[in-house]
Amino acid sequence: MPHASRPHHHHRRRRVPRPLPLVAAGALLATAAVTLPQLTPEASAATTLRGYADARGVRIGAAVGDGPLTSDSAYTTVLDREFNSVTAENAMKWDALEPSRGGYNWAAADRLVAHAAAHNQGVRGHTLAWYSQLPSWLKNGNFSAAELNTILKKHIDTTLGRYKGKVYAWDVVNETFNEDGSMRSSLWQDKLGTGYIANALRWAHAADPAAKLYINDYNIEADNAKSDALYALAKQLLAEGVPLNGIGFQSHFVVGQVPSTMKANLKRFSDLGLEVSVTELDIRIPLPASAAELAQQSADYKLASENCLGVARCAGVTVWGVTDKYSWIPGTFSGFGAALPYNESYAPKPSYTGLSNGLNPAA
Ligand code: G3I
Repeated sequence: MPHASRPHHHHRRRRVPRPLPLVAAGALLATAAVTLPQLTPEASAATTLRGYADARGVRIGAAVGDGPLTSDSAYTTVLDREFNSVTAENAMKWDALEPSRGGYNWAAADRLVAHAAAHNQGVRGHTLAWYSQLPSWLKNGNFSAAELNTILKKHIDTTLGRYKGKVYAWDVVNETFNEDGSMRSSLWQDKLGTGYIANALRWAHAADPAAKLYINDYNIEADNAKSDALYALAKQLLAEGVPLNGIGFQSHFVVGQVPSTMKANLKRFSDLGLEVSVTELDIRIPLPASAAELAQQSADYKLASENCLGVARCAGVTVWGVTDKYSWIPGTFSGFGAALPYNESYAPKPSYTGLSNGLNPAA
């Protein structure tokens, strides 16, 4: 599978079986049970999400929870057939990795990384410096700025060191801006100032020079105050030679509300020489979802994925879950749901077709 960092736009050449002489064709019929299964997987792979993504050298990813990964074979069947990239929905967050100081718990993250390797999937690492999901020892430790710097560097060294060469991109910094473009208050921002962002990126680059290093955020898909502030920061970091490689546009949308400025906004970041990725796409619908809303959601999935893939340095699209059976939406947005490409019973929804058409340039 091509690496996502440099998408190429030619199509994978399909091997076309040579015409057979009649005698050989007779022999083929006799051995059809052997011959056909060799052809079928290749033919069907081309029509999966990952088949289309592989063909254009980009990632189609899904956020994966450790629960379904370890308990639901219907889930992993779809995950492995359709996706060439995975993101740990929670297992690589600080509270999951280091619940007590120096007491690491790698089990769930290791499971996902091993699963990905076994199924030829890349891993997006999520996430290092974030205001949320911090273990209480860290949140309530009342550390000095010097101690916090040491703690953040150690976390980055340890985590990237463990997965060096196995994670193709890291969300090094997550959700650092308020909606008005000011810096969001966080443990890091409040104690260390904005300089922690450059430091975190430099430490991450030293720990795994091959990983693409991202700043990731939500409500930055449109051209707005928040994306303007991020654009200014990204430009400044690049001017200072900080190893920033990409911007992650989470893309938690409401049905019918994919921003009209999304493609132009992603393009201005791409024009800085940065990768752009849609990292957490889901499109929520007020429940119960009507047929018209499901059709609109399908158009939205197509548009959102095209808004990224139509930009030069788009590395790929990740959806924040596989199935409506496991989605953070109903628990957070009361009355909303049905946000993903598969329903609770693993039937593909219209949104699956929308996403598939967004990935397939011939559609
Ligand atoms: O791990 C505990 C478990 O021990 C406990 O028994 C259980 C009981 O509630 O909670 C578990 O923690 C939950 C965790 O998911 C793991 O399942 C937290 O309560 C719950 O808040 C947490 O939610 C996650 C949320 O991030 C946390 O902020 C969602 O699953 C996850 O989808 C969501 O993902 C975020 C991205 O990381 C960043 N962008 C926004 C996105 C959606 O909020």
